[in-house]
Parts: sequence; C-alpha cells; structure tokens
Amino acid sequence: MATLNSNYLKLKAGYLFPEIARRVKAFTEANPEAASRMIRCGIGDVTEPLPLAVREAMHAAIDEMGTHGGFHGYGPEQGYEFLRTAIAQHDYRDRGLDVADDEIFVSDGSKCDGGNILDILGDDNRIAVMDPVYPVYVDTNVMAGHTGDANEDGSYAGILYLECNAANGFVPQIPEEKADIVYLCFPNNPTGAVATRAQLEAWVTYARKHGSILLYDAAYEAFVSDPSVPRSIYEIPGARECAIEFRSFSKNGGFTGTRCAFTVVPKNLTALCSNGEHRPIHPLWHRRFTTKFNGVSYITQRGAAALYSEMGRAEVAALVEHYMGNAAILREAVQSCGLEVYGGVNAPYIWVHALVGQTSWQIFDRMLNEANIVVTPGSGFGRAGEGYFRISAFNSREKVLEAATRLKAMVW
Ligand code: MLT
Repeated sequence: MATLNSNYLKLKAGYLFPEIARRVKAFTEANPEAASRMIRCGIGDVTEPLPLAVREAMHAAIDEMGTHGGFHGYGPEQGYEFLRTAIAQHDYRDRGLDVADDEIFVSDGSKCDGGNILDILGDDNRIAVMDPVYPVYVDTNVMAGHTGDANEDGSYAGILYLECNAANGFVPQIPEEKADIVYLCFPNNPTGAVATRAQLEAWVTYARKHGSILLYDAAYEAFVSDPSVPRSIYEIPGARECAIEFRSFSKNGGFTGTRCAFTVVPKNLTALCSNGEHRPIHPLWHRRFTTKFNGVSYITQRGAAALYSEMGRAEVAALVEHYMGNAAILREAVQSCGLEVYGGVNAPYIWVHALVGQTSWQIFDRMLNEANIVVTPGSGFGRAGEGYFRISAFNSREKVLEAATRLKAMVW
C-alpha cells in the first residue's frame, strides 16, 4: 500500500493565514451585518493597484506574445537575462554590492523559495529560527522531516528557537549552540524589527565560524527608511560565503497576486557533502530550478523589470510611502490606547503587546467581534508571540483611518 509523508501529520494546526480566513468566514456567516464593516489587517496582502509602469510593460509583452517574432514559449527556468540583470544591477551593484546576474534566480514567490531551498540542503542540519517567526520556515522543515513532534506550546522538537522579545529589541542573541541553518528575517515579519549592521555582522561571524548558512529573508527591505539599517545581508563583509538572500516584488511592487520574487545564491557559498568535501550550492539550486520549475511567465517578468524603470521606481516609492503612512496612523492609534507597540517604522507590520492575561487568539476574537477588524494573533508565529497581535499596514488609507478610529474606541 502506498504510504504518505507522515511528517505532515506532525503539523499542529492549519497554515496560519487560511486558519484566520476560516475563522473570519465563520464569523461573517454568523454575523452577516458585520461582513461589510470588516477591515482586514491580518495577512499582509497589498491593496493598491499595480503600478502603471508594470501594467504598460505587461500589455506590451502580451502584444509581443501575439506576434510570431515576439512570441515566447518556455523561457530560461531561472529567469530572463533582462530581469536578472536589472535586479543584480539596481538592487546590488548600484549599491556597491558584488552580485552577478547569474546569482539571481527568479521565482514565483519567497514563500515557495523558502520551502524549496530545503531540497538542496541536507536532512541532518540543525535548524534555528527566530521566535516569533514567519510560519513557513518552521512548517516546511516539519514537512521535510527535520523536526520531532510538536510540543504542547506549538514548538517542535529539534528546532533551535531564538527568542525575540521586547528586552532584546526582537533581534535574537547569538546562541551558544551551533546551528547549521539559521533563518533570519529583517525587516522582520511579524515584529517589524530591524537588525543593525553590528547585529548582522555578529551573525555573519557566527555563520562563518560554524560553517552555517544564513537564510536571509529580506522581502520587506523596501520599507527601510533608516539609512543606517542594512537592506541586504550582502552589505556585511563575508556574507557571500555564508548567506542566501530571499527577496520579493510582492510588497514593494504590489505583486502578491501577480507573483514574482527571487533568491540570490552566491557562487562562492559552499556546504559540506556526505564525503566530507565542500561543494558550491549554486549548481544544485540551478539544477533544482531547471528540473522542477518552468520559470515565471515572460509577461510577469517584463512587469517586474518595469519596477526598475524611472517611472517604476517612482511608483514603488509612492506605494512604500502610502503603506508606511498607514503604519504611522495605526501605530499612533494603538499607542494612544496605552498599548505597548513595536515595529511600523522600517516595516509595514505593527506588533502590539496587548492586555496582560489575554491570549493572542482571545485578542483576535475581541478585535473581530468588537471592532470588526482582522488582525493576526501573535501566537500563530510561535510561542514567543503569545500575548501579542500583528496589524498589517497593507490597506487603503480610508480603511486604515477607520480602523484607527475603531481601535481608539475600544475599551482596553
Ligand atoms: C504575512 O502576512 O505574513 C505575509 O503576507 C505572508 C506572506 O507573505 O506569505
């Protein structure tokens, strides 16, 4: 008889965001009058229209596809040269960072990349994650059999959790123990924290000392406004020997529905083989792409490349300004309620410590019932998120202003 991957049975709950959607659906079915009042500040899904530069480029690409001369069938799995060059040039080389075009791998999303990267890493690696954490890092390791069973508090045996709390500014201390793979995310989802150059230098030093790989999720780098805060791990000397960077057009370019992202895998990053040799991992990622992926559509890649045009860059800047304006409004609203608030300055997420003695899901229910606002319960991001909730700033200004009014009207 066929067997299944029993690791999936270790997963504690449904994936966080569908679980929230399920609860919101149940609530609106039971309270239809509340449905039209609902303000969704849960999942970080963009709301503003796709930039004109992108739409124009995609329209032109569709027209090209309608001609014999401009038709594109299968493309290069790892991305068209025009997009890989635009990314490497604008996001890295123009900022003095040494990244070659062929170190960029264009994909359909950072969530997918974050899960897929495990294909090319060994199963015996010790995994470290920040806690609270974007659930994909943990769940994909559970699915791959890299953990033991779940504990009562939702954590998994075998994972090294790096606690992030108000005392350490939500940036984890360097652990005493060795981890082979360390997931870092800055600006952080969910806490909105950013790491200083010195903190990232300490992580690069740790990784190089132990031969670890840093999986650096920089999906929110566009929201950093403080010039002293690094936007790429490659700003840190030595990071090319120990880090893979994940980036996405979802949040800066409004691509959550359009789908385009990329990973940077430096050619000089190596890992250990079972025979004790050190081998570069770039060829393995390339091999995985060409075998398991057919690439992002030509039309989408043309749209993504347009984000680097003069007009595209101005539109991205306007989108970032819009969402960060929302973050400032929401931050002020929760602060004025007397709640402890973090993030929302160099990141589009506001991380709020609510009422002592209430669980994150209780706060979620209260917000849903009393204010008809959907937030994300902090405990959904891990044990250290208990007692917190996350508010996403991805919304229209009108809805954010209304959410702020409702938050202030709640009796905390
Ligand atoms: C989130 O809300 O944490 C993100 O939108 C999820 C994602 O980017 O996959």
